[in-house]
Amino acid sequence: MASVYRTLDGIDFDRTDCPALPRPDTVLLTTPDYYDVQYVINPHMSGHVGSVNHGVAMQQWKALRAVYTALGIEPHIVDGQPGLPDMVFCANQTLPFFDPLAERHGVVLSRMQAEQRRDEVPYFADAFSDLNYTVESLPESVNSPFEGMGDGIWHPGRYLLWGGYGFRSAPEPYEVLAGLLGARVVALELTDADFYHLDTCFSPLDEHSVLIYPGAFTDDGLALIDHFFTTVVEAPEEEARHQFACNAHCPNGHHVLIQEGCTTTENRLRRAGFKPIELDTSEFMKSGGSVFCMKQMIW
Ligand code: ARG
Repeated sequence: MASVYRTLDGIDFDRTDCPALPRPDTVLLTTPDYYDVQYVINPHMSGHVGSVNHGVAMQQWKALRAVYTALGIEPHIVDGQPGLPDMVFCANQTLPFFDPLAERHGVVLSRMQAEQRRDEVPYFADAFSDLNYTVESLPESVNSPFEGMGDGIWHPGRYLLWGGYGFRSAPEPYEVLAGLLGARVVALELTDADFYHLDTCFSPLDEHSVLIYPGAFTDDGLALIDHFFTTVVEAPEEEARHQFACNAHCPNGHHVLIQEGCTTTENRLRRAGFKPIELDTSEFMKSGGSVFCMKQMIW
């Protein structure tokens, strides 16, 4: 049951065969007090070193926090730390989980590929342990990177993990994660460096629907996405590549928090029954991230 699937061959189950997963109701956010672009570890950061407007970044982050609060999703705040300018992207250091069969909360710590970000992880280990989550690490024998919920994304409502690999996470950790979590994993190879984390090109909206940029996947990946979702909303290349349209976040199966100006994507979301809420994340896009990577959903 706990296996990794990379092609449609061998898939003999549908999403409804996976255990039901409750919707997380709390959002973990990290303050951008020390947010900056100081190095280049993804293509979006080049040309932006030293260009962050810190006052504007703080306003944009507060606006994001306010939207979650207005939607009734309680923010749990972890303080950003000096010397860790990417810590605000709190989707990356961990993969929180709730095993519905064992009724067990836990979190798997990331093994950051980006050396500059490795010291962020212990702060999140502490934060989750304060929340009474069991804190798990990948075994020493796994010698390859895994960058948390940037690449490992739960299927809404189902205990089924989508796992991106190719740029920041490697494929190997998903084998171990499947066993550790007792969950099926659908692994998707990423093919375009601008879409270096799965959450830059894939945002599940609800159990039936997903927002993707198809150009970032292989044919095998697209076939897997089509198999597990009934509605696939596609973002056009310009909005996906330059405005992070697919780094949108749907926390409640209805509202979709999205970078402002993704007009075509927003219209397609509305036609599919969703309600876009525009936010300006321009200061964070300089570092290669938008809404989805600035939060971590927890149970
Ligand atoms: N500068 C950060 C990095 O490259 C941005 C991370 C954005 N997070 C994400 N899940 N896409 O690591």
